[in-house]
Amino acid sequence: MTVKLTRAALETMDERDELRTFRDRFHLPDGLIYLDGNSLGAMPKAASERVRHVVDVEWAQGLIRSWNQYGWIDLQQRIGAKIGRLIGADEGETIVADSTSVNLFKMLAAALKLRPGRRVILSEPANFPTDLYMAEGLIALLGGDHELVLAEPDEIESAIDEDVAVVMLTHVNYRTGRMYDMAKVTERAHRAGALTVWDLAHSAGAVPLHLAAAGADFAVGCGYKYLNGGPGAPAFLYVARRHQDTVAVPLTGWFGHADPFAFEPSYRPASGIARALVGTPPLISLSALEVGVDLMLEASMSALRAKSVRQAEIFAALIEQEVAGLGFEIVSPREADRRGSQVCLSHASAWPIMQSLIARGVIGDFRAPDVLRFGFTPLYLGYTELWDAVAALRHIMESDEWKQPAHHARLKVT
Ligand SMILES: Cc1ncc(COP(=O)(O)O)c(C=O)c1O
Repeated sequence: MTVKLTRAALETMDERDELRTFRDRFHLPDGLIYLDGNSLGAMPKAASERVRHVVDVEWAQGLIRSWNQYGWIDLQQRIGAKIGRLIGADEGETIVADSTSVNLFKMLAAALKLRPGRRVILSEPANFPTDLYMAEGLIALLGGDHELVLAEPDEIESAIDEDVAVVMLTHVNYRTGRMYDMAKVTERAHRAGALTVWDLAHSAGAVPLHLAAAGADFAVGCGYKYLNGGPGAPAFLYVARRHQDTVAVPLTGWFGHADPFAFEPSYRPASGIARALVGTPPLISLSALEVGVDLMLEASMSALRAKSVRQAEIFAALIEQEVAGLGFEIVSPREADRRGSQVCLSHASAWPIMQSLIARGVIGDFRAPDVLRFGFTPLYLGYTELWDAVAALRHIMESDEWKQPAHHARLKVT
């Protein structure tokens, strides 16, 4: 027999929540229920103070001296090392740079170079499009001898053969939350002589990660989602130590040079992870990212995961309890060890329903063609909010509020 969930029971869970105090460290508008931290994390209150300092003091007063005086030149390494602790990397394996897409291009090209004679980049059709697009662009640039082969998630492991140079996967799928077993897929790839490039956009700060223990070769990830680094925050990348001094990064900018301020006429790669850098980083964004990462490091990843699993289970149970028979289907895996920190629903009218929810102050997002996506960020999301979000969904369905023409207008960003 399943026990009926009540709002009162969730209020009690909030009272007992050991992570509860973190919420006060974020700016969250009153009355808003934010279930989209998997797309853009909330703003840590400390970020405004930090950015103000960078702008008013380090830039305005310090000017060019701040590269040394405020350690701007080491910031990519420093924040990278902190992210490394969140993703189970060994020291010196992680650095902050560029965007996720650009890092993917860099890591994919570097991996292909380590596997000459192998033609295939293996991925899945439902991977995040930028990953597939970057692979296509790289293949075209390399003259077309390589091929992007797409296999369904359950068939990935059996599709890894001696032709595969690189297995390129997003660890937690953006549209369904489905999660791969990183260690298992990596082990299978290595057994066939292939390398792995993992996209951690929906994993870093969302689920416990053990990149070094899993034997991962390369990885990339976003700063603006679960790391709460701010809109357009720089991304990060990971290169296993064993590859670092042999890997050739295709974008050979001066920040990746062995001695940038020697201004030599020819490129010489830096040793270690620094060779994955390209050019001058966006310092203001970089500073805001550090605030988000620091906040995440204060919490225990296992406590975050435990709460995230509970929140996902409660949300799914509430969907079944409160909006059964209204056309929703849960498309995320139900087993916690196969799911990231989101629960997604399909519905034939997903777009206007999500717009109607947003108008009521419950923010999730829509992913074409028919998915309503709800992300759980246990650092600042309470249990009672889950009840209120599903109650709002029930209300807009029962009242037909979602049918109002205003909710059907398409927007550029979904
Ligand atoms: C899996 C995945 N990879 C990459 C990106 C985005 O990459 P970029 O930051 O380069 O736009 C996203 C954005 O949502 C994503 O979900």
